[in-house]
Amino acid sequence: MSFQTIIYEVDGPIARVSLNRPKQLNAYSVQMRDDLYEVLGALKDDDSIRAVIFRGAGDKAFCAGADLTEFLSAPSPVIARQVRWERDVWGRFLNLDKPLIAALQGYVLGSGIEISLCCDIRIASEDARFGLPEVGLGIIPAAGGTQTLPRAIGPARAMDVLLSARWLDAKEALKYRLVNRVIPKSNLYLEAEVLAHRIAALDPALVKAAKKAVDRGMDLPLAAGLELETRLASGL
Ligand code: COA
Repeated sequence: MSFQTIIYEVDGPIARVSLNRPKQLNAYSVQMRDDLYEVLGALKDDDSIRAVIFRGAGDKAFCAGADLTEFLSAPSPVIARQVRWERDVWGRFLNLDKPLIAALQGYVLGSGIEISLCCDIRIASEDARFGLPEVGLGIIPAAGGTQTLPRAIGPARAMDVLLSARWLDAKEALKYRLVNRVIPKSNLYLEAEVLAHRIAALDPALVKAAKKAVDRGMDLPLAAGLELETRLASGL
């Protein structure tokens, strides 16, 4: 499958999704949204895929956020809402039952952080810099960031990042638990591949059940989460 703004490769049990507008620091455009929507559908439908790596083409950025040249240029709020409904990228992300790894380098801003927050494991290179600049730009994050960030790093830290629009370097992102680990840039993709292959070698039914237990459980009170875990465990 080929796309204008994304390179989608399936290599045995591993899929790689590269945001591919390196000259624009992989800024998230309307075309990229449409391509990503298709890619997420393909990922969902392909039972042979057991782990997915998200990354950014070039060596400067994972994604520098929404494409500012298209910023707030939707024809009307009604059309914008309709398109969002029809191409619910974030809903597709959150409904994917496959393990998703984000390999993050350089600029990870706005939609870039939000895409990574839809992934299960975030690995960053030492040069990664993270920020949600939206409040400084006259909007608020609208690709899930206000919900996924506090769930990932807790509300106090999320407020710090969201309200001040300040950036975190890789060290601080690790301290904030926004990323699982920070590694030298030259090893970033190798590390992501090793992890993906490790996951892909495990029983996919167990991996999916564990992911579901964590994802769904996070939205439940503890007692209901424990029931969910029991149900999932006994169904295996
Ligand atoms: N949308 C569209 N184009 C973008 C972009 C974005 N979000 N971010 C970067 N680009 C483009 C630049 O316009 C530039 O294009 P050009 O070479 O045609 O002039 C190219 O990518 C390289 O960016 P540049 O600004 O030269 O790189 P830099 O390393 O000096 O600075 C940033 C990088 C990320 C600090 C800076 O590009 C920036 O602030 N981008 C906007 C980030 C943002 O606010 N995103 C929106 C979040 S909601």
